[in-house]
Amino acid sequence: MKQIWRNCHVATMAGGEYAAVERAALVTRGQHIEWVGPEADLPRGDEAAEHDLGGAWVTPGLIDCHTHLVFGGDRSQEFEQRLQGVDYAVIAAQGGGIASTVRATRAATEAQLYASARRRALHLLRDGVTTLEIKSGYGLDLPNERKMLRVARHLGQTLPLTVRATCLAAHALPPEFAGRADDYIDEVARRMLPVLAAEGLVDAVDAFCEHLAFSPAQVERVFQAAAQLGLPVKLHAEQLSSLHGASLAARHGALSADHLEYLTEADVRAMAAAGTVAVLLPGAFYALRETQLPPIDLLRRHGVPIAISSDLNPGTSPALSLRLMLSMACTLFRLTPQEALAGATVHAARALGLQASHGVLAPGKVADFVAWDIAHPAELAYWIGGELPKRVIRHGEPVCATALD
Ligand code: NIG
Ligand code: FE
Repeated sequence: MKQIWRNCHVATMAGGEYAAVERAALVTRGQHIEWVGPEADLPRGDEAAEHDLGGAWVTPGLIDCHTHLVFGGDRSQEFEQRLQGVDYAVIAAQGGGIASTVRATRAATEAQLYASARRRALHLLRDGVTTLEIKSGYGLDLPNERKMLRVARHLGQTLPLTVRATCLAAHALPPEFAGRADDYIDEVARRMLPVLAAEGLVDAVDAFCEHLAFSPAQVERVFQAAAQLGLPVKLHAEQLSSLHGASLAARHGALSADHLEYLTEADVRAMAAAGTVAVLLPGAFYALRETQLPPIDLLRRHGVPIAISSDLNPGTSPALSLRLMLSMACTLFRLTPQEALAGATVHAARALGLQASHGVLAPGKVADFVAWDIAHPAELAYWIGGELPKRVIRHGEPVCATALD
């Protein structure tokens, strides 16, 4: 069905800029955008339902391209420990950190995981998110990784959200493989990934490249397995130290390398050459009280696209608002509000391999957009918390408020 959305201003985000059209209108047909431009030039023709957006600013639906929102339990006590000065790496070495969430996630049923993840996803939805990536990585064995990925798929089927599921089985070493990291990587590469991919549960493959997780050589074996299955890769890299995981990811044509506080210029060059997106995660930077900033100017200078995401997870970023991350990206990382919004739309789409269909408002793209009652798009990064009045349109249809209860 053809629909006209008039009386608005549109930040199309083409080319990573607002690329604004003021006094604009959009035309959608079915799930896609057919036309965007000044309302005065609106092509008249066949019958269409009309919607008056009341002078709102329209942006692409927000895309949260890096989350771990399916998990059991919480880590608020670890938060208290960290505030008393105990380091994240020390907590992890003592069997806390990721390992404690693995215990809680293994103990939870699929229904319990779905119920808690749904509540968290609704927070993001109310913030204007229409596309969401969800990683596994707290199961660390075949049945429990499968359980997490099935919950991710189920969320995509039951909420007005496009969900991309990423297998992060190489997130941490499970206790049953203690001292045998290479054997666990074999298990991931030879058994878990092929089985989960065959079940249709995996859109991309991720790993955690860090001293307290897996070495570049181990990550490379995971990437080789992903390539054999035809799956794109991404990597948690340079979060706590420099292992040049981002360069490794770029060599494998990764969609993205994420975190990147300890990224070097050589890594930046490799990412630029490969078209790998830099996904920055200000929530984890903030929660870990990190002081090493990701090298924003180098990323800009070499033309590496920068995405911004919540990293929603129970340990390092219990962040339930993507707009808050835009604010933090500006205040902590000195991004401009325009760069921050590009980071949660056009560049986030690229980080998920969805750039052909998502992230920009243009003819042929999916009609996922938000009409915000704001005076300027910079407000999306300006307000700290709270809920902004808006209408969310997904696949060309308004998301009704009851879908968000
Ligand atoms: O993205 N860096 C590794 N993984 C998560 C943290 C996971 C956790 O602490 O539970 C992250 O920050
Ligand atoms: Fe993460």
